Amino acid sequence: MASLQILYQPQAVMHVLILCLILEIASGQDKRNNLLSLNLKVSSMNKANEFTITLTVTNNVNKCMVVKISIEDNPNIKYLSAKATYTACICTVNNYFWDIQVFANTVLQGKAEVVPAKDICPDGENIYPVTSYNETVKSEILVIS
Ligand SMILES: *[C@@H]1O[C@H](CO)[C@@H](O)[C@H](O)[C@H]1NC(C)=O
Repeated sequence: MASLQILYQPQAVMHVLILCLILEIASGQDKRNNLLSLNLKVSSMNKANEFTITLTVTNNVNKCMVVKISIEDNPNIKYLSAKATYTACICTVNNYFWDIQVFANTVLQGKAEVVPAKDICPDGENIYPVTSYNETVKSEILVIS
């Protein structure tokens, strides 16, 4: 039994390594070193080609950051809500929302930019010492025609 386990283990390790490699390729880049992670969710509203966009910004370090959150300019969309750019102190996870109408198949790009702190995070909050960092996320929207 003991010898069987010893024989088995290297193979199991290989399997885990290969799986990790595949997952990493699938995600496109190694997200573990990123200060921020973004997730863009597109949910359909009741009317055709109208969507609510939710951009989730996750802070991966245990210090707060001032972050500017936006959707990149896109000629194929019209904002039903304001075309807002948000600036917020993000310490853990925050969600941002936009309602849009889409005229043609398009790739939506959400962006989070760490900007220098300017009285946005509460006094005494531990601020991460980075003043220039960008993270983007893309999502394709297909319209019904
Ligand atoms: C982040 O994006 C802004 C605006 O597009 C740009 O000015 C800045 O150089 C970028 N910063 C980095 C670190 O890429």
